[in-house]
Amino acid sequence: MSRRILVTAALPYANGHIHLGHLVEYAQTDIWVRFQKLRGHDCRFFCADDTHGTSIMIRARQEGRREEDVIADMREAHLRDFAGFDIEFDNYGSTHSESNRELCAEFWAALRRADMIVARDVERLFDPEVGTFLADRFVRGTCPKCGTEGQYGDGCEKCLSNYAPTDLLNPRSTLSGATPELRTSTQLFVRIEDLHEFLGTWTQTSGALQPEIANYLQGHFLGEPLRDWDVSRPARYFGFEIPDSPGNYWYVWFDAPIGYVASTRDWCDRTGESLDGWWKNPDCEIHHFIGKDITYFHTLFWPAMLKTAGYQLPTKVHIHGFLTVDGEKMSKSRGTFIRGSTYLQHLDPAYLRYYFASKLGPRVDDLDLNLEDFRNKINSDLVGKVVNIASRCARLLAGRSLSAAYPEDGGLFREGAAASERIAAAYENCDYNQAMREIMLLADRANQYIDAQQPWTLRKDPARADDVQNICSVALNLFRQIAVYLAPVLPRLARQTGELLSAPIEHWDAAQQPLSGTPVNEFQHLLKRIEIEKVNAMLADSQDDLAKKEAPTAAAGAAVVGAEAAGGSGQDSGEWLEKEPLVADLCTIDDFTKVDLRVARVVEANHVQGADKLLQLTLSLGGDVRRNVFAGIKAAYAPEQLVGRLVVVVANLAPRKMKFGVSEGMVCAAGSGGRDVFLLAPDSGAQPGQRVH
Ligand code: 2FM
Ligand code: ZN
Repeated sequence: MSRRILVTAALPYANGHIHLGHLVEYAQTDIWVRFQKLRGHDCRFFCADDTHGTSIMIRARQEGRREEDVIADMREAHLRDFAGFDIEFDNYGSTHSESNRELCAEFWAALRRADMIVARDVERLFDPEVGTFLADRFVRGTCPKCGTEGQYGDGCEKCLSNYAPTDLLNPRSTLSGATPELRTSTQLFVRIEDLHEFLGTWTQTSGALQPEIANYLQGHFLGEPLRDWDVSRPARYFGFEIPDSPGNYWYVWFDAPIGYVASTRDWCDRTGESLDGWWKNPDCEIHHFIGKDITYFHTLFWPAMLKTAGYQLPTKVHIHGFLTVDGEKMSKSRGTFIRGSTYLQHLDPAYLRYYFASKLGPRVDDLDLNLEDFRNKINSDLVGKVVNIASRCARLLAGRSLSAAYPEDGGLFREGAAASERIAAAYENCDYNQAMREIMLLADRANQYIDAQQPWTLRKDPARADDVQNICSVALNLFRQIAVYLAPVLPRLARQTGELLSAPIEHWDAAQQPLSGTPVNEFQHLLKRIEIEKVNAMLADSQDDLAKKEAPTAAAGAAVVGAEAAGGSGQDSGEWLEKEPLVADLCTIDDFTKVDLRVARVVEANHVQGADKLLQLTLSLGGDVRRNVFAGIKAAYAPEQLVGRLVVVVANLAPRKMKFGVSEGMVCAAGSGGRDVFLLAPDSGAQPGQRVH
């Protein structure tokens, strides 16, 4: 029986580009949706840009543009990236849309009617230097629950607890580095404790959540009263003004999930469908795919809102872990913070879709993109096993047809057809890893068959032409069966297979019946092996992305260029830059004065034989005090540009023995390294040896 299934993936923020971390989720969801569609279900995939909040406002201010223009550009980039990875939505909306505004008002009115909104004067963190209340994500400090440093104001990435920014220990504004002040503001809260009992039952017994998530919620939140949820933000805020509370705006996390409904509504308006037929229909399944960091919003707040407004609750919230690359958090300095668009310049999207599929299971585990394993797996599974079946046999039959009756194959096709429900169950359960393993076993058997039959040897004997046709007909049918099973993951391969054998793959059941008599078209190249050079070029380009970063902030760009930076690696904290401005951990004035910064004059500058990045500088610190410094600035400066100019040097840095000699200090510069290096220069009048305060 055909099911009606509504699927969403988390709405990406409109203040950043799509990167490989995002793509774990979009690939996972797209595969699930394609699988359901191929099974003949009425399945629709809705998503949108998540446009509101302080980050966009600040970005727009930095760029001197309207927020609407910033989000329009990012939307275009997101859509391009999604198309590049074959992520296909039925509708891609925006939370900054009239449909979303209206739906927010509807949800809000329902919460008011249920008497769940309370107004309270609260102390909020205010940045006295920038003159604004600070959104949760603009405060960082130490997690009050587990003590991990550097956590955001709304929740801890380590222990995943949620809290108010005022609960953070040692908070600081990420906008200016200032210690925030407490100021009073009248805020509106949703009292979700009213729904505690309902949420307790729903999370623990509905089957909507993975067992580890249900346990986590019970252990961390449901054992005590649920805290009121602060859903208003005072002006100025980029979002929707709350109709019955002028000057206050809905917090981005209030309107974001409503964006799922708004995107559905836009699609309904376009196609003549009824919104209630999807969101208020008990026969419609609702599936959300999200990352573990936004569990609380989707498993407590969102169900509370849906319940109050009379919408259906999620049938399932599928929660996945984070992506690491080569076992570590993605990092711009290592080149492993890879944008989708950068990946696509070098590699085929099918590789990543298959690799993620081969690693994704139904649990909340993190997923590692090990680049060597990635290459090996694609080359061995996709190219060596799957494509190899077609490339060995299709050419032998090109321009002819599959045998008029499907030949005897020793039961191979039947075995493959019998795997159908096992593979389908694995997809259904998001156990793609299991599905890929089953499919690769079928590919192994097909290859063993071809190896044993050796059609390329038989073809030399004209009397065996029928045998060659029969063997290739079996092999190509086995290939097609595999292409059907892989179609949710590799839609392009499925399409090309349909073209090759003159029979488009339109339904999962295409794997049940072999083709006979259909024309075999000319074999087109399917998938190439991954060359290591391509992977390396992608990493190199990803490092470059840091240098090309659109919105540098004063604190983020600062670097000290000397022996330490000679390796040219830039700064490790780069991965935060795309999200928001960053300052390092606070230091006291005493910490600062430990660093003896001095004005120095470059009296000599030379190339260093055998060093690609270094120049050797002789610096005068006044009188006859001289310092020898190796600085990683060769790509940005020629020696003759430097002689005679003033620089700022860290004069009390412990001397460091390098391959080329001893370096006795560091020259201060801004920039990320390579050609992106800018030496700091004192104004004229400063004298060598003067201390910099
Ligand atoms: O965490 C995020 O990237 C959010 N933009 C996800 C929003 S999902 C939904 F609630 F809209
Ligand atoms: Zn914590």
